[in-house]
Amino acid sequence: MSPLVELQGKHIVLGLSGGVACYKAAELARELVRAGATVQVVMTEAAAQFITAVTMQALSGRPVFTSQWDARQPNGMAHIELSREADAVLVAPASADFIAQLAQGRAGELLSLLCLARSMRTCPLLVAPAMNREMWAHPATQRNVAQIVADGATVLGPATGDQACGEVGDGRMLEATELRDELIAVFQPKVLAGRSVLITAGPTFEAIDPVRGISNHSSGKMGFAVARAAAEAGAHVTLVAGPVHLPTPRGVRRIDVQSAQQMLDAVLPEAPRHEVFVATAAVADWRPALAAEGKIKKDGSGRVAALELLENPDILATVARLPAAARPWCVGFAAESHDLVRHARDKLVRKGVPLIVANLGPETFGRDDNTLLLVDAAGEHELPRADKLTLARQLMAEIAARLPARPT
Ligand code: CTP
Repeated sequence: MSPLVELQGKHIVLGLSGGVACYKAAELARELVRAGATVQVVMTEAAAQFITAVTMQALSGRPVFTSQWDARQPNGMAHIELSREADAVLVAPASADFIAQLAQGRAGELLSLLCLARSMRTCPLLVAPAMNREMWAHPATQRNVAQIVADGATVLGPATGDQACGEVGDGRMLEATELRDELIAVFQPKVLAGRSVLITAGPTFEAIDPVRGISNHSSGKMGFAVARAAAEAGAHVTLVAGPVHLPTPRGVRRIDVQSAQQMLDAVLPEAPRHEVFVATAAVADWRPALAAEGKIKKDGSGRVAALELLENPDILATVARLPAAARPWCVGFAAESHDLVRHARDKLVRKGVPLIVANLGPETFGRDDNTLLLVDAAGEHELPRADKLTLARQLMAEIAARLPARPT
C-alpha cells in the first residue's frame, strides 16, 4: 500500500484543546488528509484562542464543530453523531485541563462530551499531551494520565525538548508525522501483542583502515519496515542496525553497530530475551584480517598489497544453535540471483531455522517494493509484489501463525 493512502476509508475526529501546540494540529490535519483519512475537527473554546476554526476547516476540508449546541446536526446531538461516524478520536493537543476532564468523565464541552459518548468498543481514543514540563510532572496530571490509560485511552508521548515557554523538558506534543504513524499503527491487527522481536538490518562495514572498508548496497529498508511492522503488531522490538541513514520506527529500541562482529556482540546478549529473531541484515561475508591503524598510502609501485580476508561469523546460524531455552524462533532472509527455491531450502537446513524469506537480491536493494517467497518445512508461499512495509506486515502475520504458543 502506498504510504499516501494508509488511512484510506478512515474517519478521524481530530480534537483540539487549548495549547500553543495547536499550530502543530494544523500540520497534523494535513498529514491525515494526505494519508487518505476524512478528518472532522472539533475544537474547545480554549483551542480557539490559539488557532482559528477557519484554518482548521481549510486544512480538513470540513466545517469545524466547536459547540454541543451546534444546530447543524439534524437531531441536535452533535456529540453522538460525530463519535458514531468516527473510526478513532485523536485529541492533539490535549491540555492538562482537558486530560483532567477526561479522567473525571466530565462533559462540559462538545469535545469532552463526545469522548465520553463514543463507543469504547469500536472507537479508540488517542491523546497527545502538550504542556509545560512542570504541569506534566505534577502528581495531579500524572494521576489523571494513569486514570485515562486505565479507562482505555492511549497516550501518545509527550516528547522531550524545547518548550514554547522557554523551558526544556517533557511535555512537547509529538510531531504531526509521528502522530499520523501512531494512528496508522492503531488500525493494524495486534498479531504479536506482548511478544518480543529482535531484528538485524542494513549492511555491515568492515574497516580496512580508518577511512576505507568493505560493505554492500543494502539500504536497510526491509529490516526497518519489519521493525515498524512488528511494533505496529504489538511486539516489543529491538533493532540492531548496521550503518544506514534511516529514522528509527516509533517505539523501537535501536542499537547501532558497524561490523559483523559488533552485530554479533550486540545480538547474542539480546537473543535469549526475545521470542523471535528476524535476520534481515546483509552481513559482509568477509573482513580484513587486520584493520590498519593509519591510512594505507599508495607506494608508487602501481600494485596494491594483498589484503588477507577472514570469514565473518554467521550471526543467524549462531543464534539458531543456541540452547533451546535461550533460542528465539529464527527467521532468515536469503537474497539470491537465481534458483531461489533451491538456495532458500539449502539455507533453511544449513542455518537450522524454521523459516527463510527469499527474494531476488540485486533487484531489491534500495528499492521501496519487493516480492517475497516464504520457504519452510510445509512448502513455499509467495507474497506478491508490494511496498516493503505492506510485505513486512504480511510477514508478521505469517510469523504469528507459525510461532509456537508461549509456555504457560
Ligand atoms: N546472515 C547472518 N550472518 C552472516 C551471513 C548471513 O546473520 N554472516 C544471515 C542474513 O541476515 C540472512 C541469512 O543469514 O538472514 C542469509 O544471508 P545470505 O547472505 O543470503 O546467506 P549467506 O549465508 O551469506 O550465503 P551465501 O552468501 O552463500 O548465499
